[in-house]
Amino acid sequence: MSKQKTKKTTFLWGAAISAHQTEGRNRKSDWYDFERSVLAQKGLDVSGTGVDHWNRYEEDIALLKKAGLNAFRFSIEWAKIEPTEGSYNEIAIRHYTHVLEELKRQGITPCVTLWHFTLPAWAAKKGGMLNADVRNRFLAYVHTCIGHYANLADMWITMNEPMVYMMEGYRWGNWPPQIRSRRKATRVIRTLRKLHAQAYKVLKKGGAKHVGIAKHIIIFQPTKSASMFHRIQARMKHRVWNRSFFSRNAAFHDFIGINYYMTAEIGPKPTKGEKDDMEWPSNPQGLADALREVSRYKKPIYVTENGIATADDKRRVAYIQSHVDALLKEAKQGIDVRGYFYWSLLDNFEWAESYTKQFGLIAVNRSTMERLPKPSLKAYGALVKKGR
Ligand code: BGC
Repeated sequence: MSKQKTKKTTFLWGAAISAHQTEGRNRKSDWYDFERSVLAQKGLDVSGTGVDHWNRYEEDIALLKKAGLNAFRFSIEWAKIEPTEGSYNEIAIRHYTHVLEELKRQGITPCVTLWHFTLPAWAAKKGGMLNADVRNRFLAYVHTCIGHYANLADMWITMNEPMVYMMEGYRWGNWPPQIRSRRKATRVIRTLRKLHAQAYKVLKKGGAKHVGIAKHIIIFQPTKSASMFHRIQARMKHRVWNRSFFSRNAAFHDFIGINYYMTAEIGPKPTKGEKDDMEWPSNPQGLADALREVSRYKKPIYVTENGIATADDKRRVAYIQSHVDALLKEAKQGIDVRGYFYWSLLDNFEWAESYTKQFGLIAVNRSTMERLPKPSLKAYGALVKKGR
């Protein structure tokens, strides 16, 4: 055995957000147009000024730091960096430099997501990621980002939840581009799998140390009275949802990022467990199962999202406690998990649900944009101090 001492990595305790959900004024994105037609018609607020994270990032980072957290996951908005095809916006490029410098100054580890669901409107008009020109522009954007930020960030996520993007946008048609086609959905996911590998290579060439994705994981469980058919169905769903993205591209991940929210029961008489405001059942054991599931790739694991939508902050405190407990138990048993990011740092724009759901550790008064930290922020910080 080598005598060399292995360097102990600091566990990342963080919170996550995405650009479109928080920054505001994402006028050049496909969602901005979609919200005006679809959400407004339903009487829901458009993302509009967001929660003004674009202008208040220093304050938001300071609140996270004050609570005792040491990591922040956020996304760079492609539509702001490249608002029209082929021309970059220097102000936006500098903006993210400032965000990253601020994180460095406050001693917070950044985890940067390059694509979190939204596309520049021009890219969407050309057919989104199904168009080869758009994919090439995406890779050029990735190249630009690593060119500017390589020295400021170690941890990179090429894309957020490709399966969710595919289902919502191409199968169910709830999100842009509002397509309902099994054939196109299959094409999109295959395309994204390849695109991740290509983006991975661009990032590594540019000097990125740790590159991965944020993969949505659902634990499918047959109910007690499930038939053989349901059991097979649960297994199939598991393979497709949780594993297929990694097939043929597991090599292009320095770490595995998982976004865990729920388990799904398959079969008759599902248990009547507690659900959150998204109608998602809470099940901390599912997080343990998710960690075990991805440990098969033998890479460091980060929980890049985990959270609850509730107006009852006491439930959030209990949720975090139970999920962190499950995580620490797995870590003790040898699962190589190196970080946990609560979703979300701020109450924010919850996609097709607009501002009606509260995932945040911090509430925001959207008239004044005042930040109102919830007790759960403090409780999470206290837990982190104990866990370290
Ligand atoms: C997404 C977030 C979203 C959260 C809650 C995740 O699937 O990455 O953008 O807000 O879930 O729905």
